[in-house]
Amino acid sequence: MKIDVVTIFPEYLDPLRAALLGRAIDRGLIEVGVHDLRNWTHDVHRAVDDAPYGGGPGMVMKPQIWGPALDEVCGERARLVVPTPAGKPFTQALAHEYAAEEHLVFACGRYEGIDQRVIDDAARRMPVDEVSIGDYVLVGGEAAVLVVVEAVVRLLPGVLGNPVSAEQDSFSDGLLEGPSYTRPEVWRDLAVPEVLRSGNHRLIDRWRRDRALERTAERRPDLLDALPEGSLDKADEAV
Ligand code: ADE
Repeated sequence: MKIDVVTIFPEYLDPLRAALLGRAIDRGLIEVGVHDLRNWTHDVHRAVDDAPYGGGPGMVMKPQIWGPALDEVCGERARLVVPTPAGKPFTQALAHEYAAEEHLVFACGRYEGIDQRVIDDAARRMPVDEVSIGDYVLVGGEAAVLVVVEAVVRLLPGVLGNPVSAEQDSFSDGLLEGPSYTRPEVWRDLAVPEVLRSGNHRLIDRWRRDRALERTAERRPDLLDALPEGSLDKADEAV
């Protein structure tokens, strides 16, 4: 998979080359390009923004800079992702969709955003998503790109040491994951739940499912409501 990011703060994306993502690059599983938007400016000030039509606070990023930048970076088969608090929610389902793409291009807006015509024009040639990583406002799209790329790349075959961990994480069955424990058996007077040391895998699976259901009901009841018909069995309904 090829991943390109266009930003006015290229150094903000340095963590893409660290840890899990860095290893995926070294092993040739992903190819990452980070591009400074100011390379497409022509004036001495290298200005990328201007005052908004209609007035109001903040500045809007200029279409004459973004247009040529995206023309050059996107090529033939890109899916363009524009992080914005006004976007549709980024979810695990969308992470799976992105993991199946050949080329993802991220356009990082700052200030009050990018002139809408940049997005509307790109959408005439390629799939474009405006996505939000949560109901809060960041200063720009860069931190959101780090979040989205990490969620996507860990789903690519060969990236995680143990592929079962991607299949079993929170959300794969529509529930939050329950608690986990390792040695020692007792730590600061707190004991590991007996059932996990029983060796009875039928009981362990049931216990884990019950804790996942409890936790989801307490923290994210909206997820329980959204489960497809028939996802809960008789034992689940007793929890
Ligand atoms: N840019 C600013 N805030 C954002 C958010 N919540 N999600 C995605 N991009 C953003």
